[in-house]
Amino acid sequence: MSERLRANAIRRAYTIEDLRQAAKNTLPKGVFDFYDGAAEDEDTLKNNALAFKKQLWRPHVLRDVSKVDPSGEVFGSKIGLPLAIGPTGGAGFGHPLADLALAKAAAQFNIPYCLSTSATTSIERLAEHAPGRLWFQAYVLSDQVHFWKLQERALSAGYEALMITVDLAVGGKRVKDHHNHFSLPFRFSDRNLIDMLSRPRWLFRMMRHGFPVMENLVGANAPKASAMKSLSGLGSSVGKNYDPSFDFDRLKEVRERWPKKLIVKGVQRGDDAAKLVELGVDLIVVSNHGGRQLDGAQASLEVLPEVLASVAGRVPVWVDGGIRHGGDMAKALSLGASGVLSGRATLYGAVAAAHEGAHQALSILSDEFLRTMQLCGVCRAKEFQRDLLQKQI
Ligand SMILES: Cc1cc2nc3c(=O)[nH]c(=O)nc-3n(C[C@H](O)[C@H](O)[C@H](O)COP(=O)(O)O)c2cc1C
Repeated sequence: MSERLRANAIRRAYTIEDLRQAAKNTLPKGVFDFYDGAAEDEDTLKNNALAFKKQLWRPHVLRDVSKVDPSGEVFGSKIGLPLAIGPTGGAGFGHPLADLALAKAAAQFNIPYCLSTSATTSIERLAEHAPGRLWFQAYVLSDQVHFWKLQERALSAGYEALMITVDLAVGGKRVKDHHNHFSLPFRFSDRNLIDMLSRPRWLFRMMRHGFPVMENLVGANAPKASAMKSLSGLGSSVGKNYDPSFDFDRLKEVRERWPKKLIVKGVQRGDDAAKLVELGVDLIVVSNHGGRQLDGAQASLEVLPEVLASVAGRVPVWVDGGIRHGGDMAKALSLGASGVLSGRATLYGAVAAAHEGAHQALSILSDEFLRTMQLCGVCRAKEFQRDLLQKQI
């Protein structure tokens, strides 16, 4: 299929599932599975999606919904939708321009974009080429010097907020990656080479742009081989550079050193959330990393009420995990979230077709969100309320 035909197919994509299929048809299996897959039996991945399906609408009718306002708000200023694009590392293995495409699409929709530590575009390169509200997600690296340096670089490059992800003390057990011989940093093997040769267009693009590198990790000291194994002795393809000793005290130090907005992502309990509020965090994201870390964890949507009760309005609480429809965004807001992060929903588009794909993903989510507002009789995104939903038992 020519690039033009592919771009047309992306523009015609009507759902996030259409974009997922486009990514599947474009990428080697190992690369697609890295994005699509999750930890162990992928139960939490399924739980996240199911939790949205179990919430059923009780819409209002006979309201004037000829004009609706889908905008949201974060850190005191308006955003186009109550949505930000969450951090997804390694996007460049799908398409070399994926990070930039996501950031540019986010700017077009006036929503924030969060760059991952393991992105294949550096902090500075992204800030230089992508306008808009940028957040930087820092993994807690075992190389502490590099960890602090990344934060200084994000500050100098003008990023609005720092996001610390806390659900990754060690890497999750990604069974598909293991079977596909997929790891980051990428290493060639017989199996993944045959897989890559099955997608010559993808391979040609990679060769033209140069094989992607996790640019923010260049210069970071790798931990000793022994530290790269989990306590069980079995290595994981992710989380090799991370520091499992990071705790609340160390987070306090981050809070003291980072002068701008601080977001903590990966919270799954009310008591932890309360401690974070006391520590001075500005925004909490309820998340289980899209099921990629602890398999068997509750769906993030199910945890949201406990976290909200514990936080009691002191800081905004956002949620991610399983959002594939604009209606899912609306359900999260109805249950009390101030906003949501997209993960795979926007990633599928960006890795299938960079700019067209990222833009189309946001167009789909935005269109569905607006439609849900109108069909629920809600004129402003802030008006989504708990009583619009009934949980199916
Ligand atoms: C391929 C991939 C890479 C990810 N990389 C990161 C990352 O670097 N940092 C992070 O905090 N979360 C990362 N996540 C988790 C997402 O930010 C988000 O929490 C998750 O994708 C939400 O679930 P969903 O994809 O089902 O919407 C990644 C997720 C995927 C799918």
